[in-house]
Amino acid sequence: MRATQKNFRRNILITSAVYTVISIIFIYRVALYGEDDSFNSFIKPLFLIIPTSLMSNNNRINIYPSNAIEAAELYEKLRYNTSGKWIDEYYLKSNLLTLKYGSNRGKVLSSIDEIEYYDSDPRLVWSVYLTDILNHHKSTKERYTMPFSWYDFADFQMYNKLISIKEKYPDSLQCSILLHPAFDKSLLQRWEKEIGESLFLSERFKYEDPFWYRSSKSFSNVAINNEDQYCKPIPLNETTRFNIPLNLTQYMDRVRPEAFDLQARNYLLNNIRQPLSITLLNKDINAYRIDIKQDNRSNLVESGLLKKYIRGQHRDEVTQDIKFDHDVIYSNFLQNDISENFRIDIPGLSNETYNQDSVTLTLDDFKFDTVGKINDLLKQGRENLTGHDRNYLESLEVSSATHAALAPKYFKEPGGIIQFRSMGHHRDERFFHGALIYDEVEYSAKLNSMIRTFQKFVKANGLISWLSHGTLYGHLYNGMTFPWDNDFDLQMPLKHLHYMSQYFNQSIIMEDPREGNGRFLLDVGTSITVRVHGNGNNNIDARFIDIDSGLYIDITALAVTSDVIPVRKFNYYDMDDAKKVKESDEIQNVSEEAEKQYYDIYTGLASLSIQKLRDYAGEHQREFSMDNADHIMKMYNDEVRALPTADTISSNLSEVQRYLFNQKLTMVNCRNYHFNTLEMITPLRASIFHGVPVLIPHKPISSLKIEYKVPSKYGYNNHEKHTFTTKINNWVPISVMSIARNTIKDNALFNVHSNLVSLKFNDLLSIFKNLLIAREYDTFTVIHNAFETVTYRQKEIEIEYDKNMEVEEKKKHLRTLREHFSGDMESPAKDPLLLQYERDLWNKYTNDADAFESDELVSLVNEKVLKARWKSYSKLYEQMYFKINDQYLDNVGMDLFEDSQKIGKDVFTDDPRWE
Ligand SMILES: *[C@@H]1O[C@H](CO)[C@@H](O)[C@H](O)[C@H]1NC(C)=O
Ligand SMILES: *[C@@H]1O[C@H](CO)[C@@H](O)[C@H](O)[C@H]1NC(C)=O
Ligand SMILES: *[C@@H]1O[C@H](CO)[C@@H](O)[C@H](O)[C@H]1NC(C)=O
Ligand SMILES: *[C@@H]1O[C@H](CO)[C@@H](O)[C@H](O)[C@H]1NC(C)=O
Ligand SMILES: *[C@@H]1O[C@H](CO)[C@@H](O)[C@H](O)[C@H]1NC(C)=O
Ligand SMILES: *[C@@H]1O[C@H](CO)[C@@H](O)[C@H](O)[C@H]1NC(C)=O
Ligand SMILES: *[C@@H]1O[C@H](CO)[C@@H](O)[C@H](O)[C@H]1NC(C)=O
Repeated sequence: MRATQKNFRRNILITSAVYTVISIIFIYRVALYGEDDSFNSFIKPLFLIIPTSLMSNNNRINIYPSNAIEAAELYEKLRYNTSGKWIDEYYLKSNLLTLKYGSNRGKVLSSIDEIEYYDSDPRLVWSVYLTDILNHHKSTKERYTMPFSWYDFADFQMYNKLISIKEKYPDSLQCSILLHPAFDKSLLQRWEKEIGESLFLSERFKYEDPFWYRSSKSFSNVAINNEDQYCKPIPLNETTRFNIPLNLTQYMDRVRPEAFDLQARNYLLNNIRQPLSITLLNKDINAYRIDIKQDNRSNLVESGLLKKYIRGQHRDEVTQDIKFDHDVIYSNFLQNDISENFRIDIPGLSNETYNQDSVTLTLDDFKFDTVGKINDLLKQGRENLTGHDRNYLESLEVSSATHAALAPKYFKEPGGIIQFRSMGHHRDERFFHGALIYDEVEYSAKLNSMIRTFQKFVKANGLISWLSHGTLYGHLYNGMTFPWDNDFDLQMPLKHLHYMSQYFNQSIIMEDPREGNGRFLLDVGTSITVRVHGNGNNNIDARFIDIDSGLYIDITALAVTSDVIPVRKFNYYDMDDAKKVKESDEIQNVSEEAEKQYYDIYTGLASLSIQKLRDYAGEHQREFSMDNADHIMKMYNDEVRALPTADTISSNLSEVQRYLFNQKLTMVNCRNYHFNTLEMITPLRASIFHGVPVLIPHKPISSLKIEYKVPSKYGYNNHEKHTFTTKINNWVPISVMSIARNTIKDNALFNVHSNLVSLKFNDLLSIFKNLLIAREYDTFTVIHNAFETVTYRQKEIEIEYDKNMEVEEKKKHLRTLREHFSGDMESPAKDPLLLQYERDLWNKYTNDADAFESDELVSLVNEKVLKARWKSYSKLYEQMYFKINDQYLDNVGMDLFEDSQKIGKDVFTDDPRWE
């Protein structure tokens, strides 16, 4: 052992007044550790005074913990267990039929016909829908389409709270609550009194500040005096079960986050189109796609599916209640032959792709034969196509008739939301759901769930994509995104964007419910055949959008295009060679045939060069909006006026010439001028990000250096108010780190002697202890839960970037690392839904519990967890963490954990060598 472990237990005050607390804690310890392990003798005598009846093992958590053991288990799960397992079970009577909100809360309804609202719980939803699928196929061969309401597949908790009060105050639910910049305070208080809890949490406290409230109310927008253009009340004589009596017809984003939240949920429920399908993942192995009924928006109560489910169930023997066991039902579904009818197999792609060391692409993957695809689909007969194929065909037709200058913006963001630091620009309008930015743990849980689900989705289908931009940059250091990033950026070859569109555009991608509850809409913009920057409206090709926050992954396709290579970006390869290519006959004398081929894949106005389009627009002014006329003139001026004298190698080349030139140079780009050479991308390398398999470009450093100033150093680092060290291996807020290092020499904290540049191993322990003492629990949780992921990445760097290792050795060790340590890695963050669920339980517990008792529980759990985690850190330090039989991979490559100050100086100078 290179270090001695110090006993870091905090002293517990023992006074006679806290005997009961201690005894409860004692029981907890016995339950957690067993009687012998790391038990503290000073409490031992108390064992004698505990009645054995308290030590029962039957500790199911019902509604909220009823004793300290359950509470401690809950806290530990809430903070440190990132698995997808639920902490309790879902029942008909004790959950679905028990009113959660309103003046009747707690009342148990006698029949499902009386239900007016329910929170969409995955256990309920999965059980009911999957049972219907299983039953349907027993009775008929007809193709199954699933009923669908957004109500069952999105979080409507805030909405449900309002539904719960609608009888008492029908007058209070008027259009103004959606459209006014902030809620009316007295109304809000009245509602909450009846609901029994806060309507929303984020910044709710601000309403109590009269100054703030007055200034929020002083905002104005055009909807306030034109309510009927934005919102229609639903007449009270029409049923508004599962709804509030309002129908938003048009968004107004000049309001506060909680008001826009309400707008967006209302619009989602009443007006957003049905998705085409639901895609269920079996881990990261397979995907199943179930088509959705397009003409009926009824939820599982309205459609009668719940009734059918209940009829088919037996009462649980113990509880006399009906259980919704979605895990079992999902496993049944997967094992049943029925699931084969829904399994997606994209011809030419394989679910083994992400299990290889590397993946090779060719220039062909960056081109697409649109005309051929349209003809293929038409040959099958439009009427015979699946909903997905038909939707895709229509998009291809629309897109190939759309000129780059005229493509309308596809994705919309509520950029106008007030008092929100412009964060509305980073959300999808349709799925906006609260501010979120003030709660880091929840925010990072959302991002984590999103990227993990996406990667499992692409892997299961063999769709190729890789990390890019800031996401790739984050991966470089610790296999995680930067905590200050608010989305992900991924790239795909054009061909795979098309696969993804044809099979999954407008599908809700659902994580394997045994692993988590992620649900995302995959949405691909219409102008998929437009591959150049054009009017700049559509830089992003596709988004993977979180239904319960509007956060998204930006997906851009790279393709061979006719875009102009930006000036300074032209240092990927030899300038002289490029000039030779430019001067070659092939580029200088483009045949008429090649010219025709280039434009012929488009139809209508899209097949016109920008010069011809400008002439046409001049003659048909009334067909073009002002905006579009502007776009055309801008593109025309760029092309005809600016380009010939521009400082780029593409100057003096026509559109068609540029396409051939880029192709010859194997330059591919997205619609926002991000160019890469094929050689920088392929062969893609396998790695791990947020604990799941990903692909990264062949030359990540070169790729990053196009956009960022990448320091060569892998070691102590500072960025965006966060600090990085190779021991903690996480970006920690500087303010928190300074507390943890006890820079102000607080007596309650341990002293940290070494500085961050050369942090000593023992000081690492003091830092962790200080985080707990200072109640910086969130930071400790983040570091703890990410341990496996970041440790894996560090080992990978130690091998990948070791300049002294032979390439073949390197490949061998990386394969060993991947094969032995990348499978079944724990998620570095909690599932957001479970996080919220368990937090609610915990909050209810602490509201009622003795503060001293719950504090002690928290300390005990934290200590236990740190102790266990410290064991893994010690193994790392002793170089005995990556154990394979009797060997340790720890000894292979650089030792960056301990020696980064010495050897970490120029780790990232160049791309890793692969040949
Ligand atoms: C997380 O909790 C679940 C359910 O309680 C349990 O089965 C699992 O082993 C726990 N995981 C870890 C890593 O403790
Ligand atoms: C509700 O009342 C309106 C106006 O009185 C009437 O037009 C409508 O048909 C009624 N709807 C129902 C479902 O009774
Ligand atoms: C809401 O309005 C839209 C039209 O804007 C209509 O199609 C829809 O049926 C309405 N929904 C309800 C619940 O009234
Ligand atoms: C790929 O899919 C097949 C068919 O479901 C399955 O048997 C196989 O295990 C999957 N392979 C991987 C690596 O996920
Ligand atoms: C939707 O389906 C439900 C039950 O299957 C049915 O009662 C209802 O009338 C349908 N609604 C429409 C608009 O077709
Ligand atoms: C569409 O399907 C029908 C029924 O199977 C078939 O008769 C028809 O030929 C198909 N249409 C085309 C264009 O293949
Ligand atoms: C995706 O689906 C939407 C909604 O139908 C459609 O507008 C869009 O054009 C589709 N995109 C592609 C590439 O199919």
